[in-house]
Amino acid sequence: MTPLFTALDVEKHYVVGTDPRAAWFAARKPRLLKALDGVRLQIAEGESLALVGESGSGKSTLVRLMLGLEPASNGRLLYRQADVSQFDAAARKTFSREVAFVYQDARGSMNPRQRVRSLLAEPMLLHDLCSDSQVNERVDRLLEQVGLSQELAERFPAELSGGQVRRVAVARALACEPKVIVADESVAGLDVSMQAQLLNLLRGLCRERGLTLIFITHDLGVASYLCERIAVMYLGRVVEEGPTTEILNRPMHPYTRGLMRAFPSFSRPLAASLKGEIPSPIDLPAGCRFASRCPQATPDCVDVDPVLKPVAGDRSVACILAV
Ligand SMILES: Nc1ncnc2c1ncn2[C@@H]1O[C@H](COP(=O)(O)OP(=O)(O)O)[C@@H](O)[C@H]1O
Ligand SMILES: [Mg+2]
Repeated sequence: MTPLFTALDVEKHYVVGTDPRAAWFAARKPRLLKALDGVRLQIAEGESLALVGESGSGKSTLVRLMLGLEPASNGRLLYRQADVSQFDAAARKTFSREVAFVYQDARGSMNPRQRVRSLLAEPMLLHDLCSDSQVNERVDRLLEQVGLSQELAERFPAELSGGQVRRVAVARALACEPKVIVADESVAGLDVSMQAQLLNLLRGLCRERGLTLIFITHDLGVASYLCERIAVMYLGRVVEEGPTTEILNRPMHPYTRGLMRAFPSFSRPLAASLKGEIPSPIDLPAGCRFASRCPQATPDCVDVDPVLKPVAGDRSVACILAV
């Protein structure tokens, strides 16, 4: 089986502290922030994968690189064995039709002066998916699929509620008949019933159409409801990956266990969160980057930087104590 997406030791570095407007920073030297530091990941066609981890772990950066919106500093990102940074114009157009992105900020991703009808028609016309005379009918069908009434087609994004705007964002992603949906925190900040509705919608669509789903969330409950596999990220790396049920029944990385204690279930409120905060990705520690917060850390953990290793049950983990 050839994977749909492959991340091969992907690194993304940003130079920070060079803002010329910040004169008071003059004494500070530019420093390297490692947003991604050796990500290895494979996603098979038709699979649903949740990328989970605290804010700042590199989830959004990884997705931006997967979509070819920014180049990697090192390593490669492949889509169907082709490097996303090397696409020619034709390959990029095919890619943009096959892989749809639902932005973290759904409202901000829409042109405020475009009505819903035109927002949904745009991708269909761009990719020649239907003739001008068929567009209206297809827009109406899309709205119906995401559970919105057809009257909303004549509204502007500002005239929609938070839940409606996210549905329009999902409809817009579906408009180009994609094979893959990549969604960044698409239900975060919604109330629980709205979250559940949107998650049901996404789950149904993916199952009906055999779509591949890559879903970013910091909520393990959401991840377990929606996705067959989970990749847990911490400080720019995948630290544990595998089938959702295996990982939740038997988490092997202490960070995954910490996340599970922090977010025990979809329906229950947050319990005590992880000890301490995610450290800065500038000046990363030499050994395991989770050692400073790990309740099981041994002296070896401070010296040895654990690599992501395959273990039984089609899963992998980066912890010297787990293997
Ligand atoms: N364009 C950028 N310039 C500098 N630092 C960035 C940039 N984008 C992301 N970062 C940093 O990279 C790290 C990972 O960010 P991000 O991918 O947004 O994490 P997540 O989506 O998991 O919250 C953070 O420390 C963030 O501040
Ligand atoms: Mg993010």
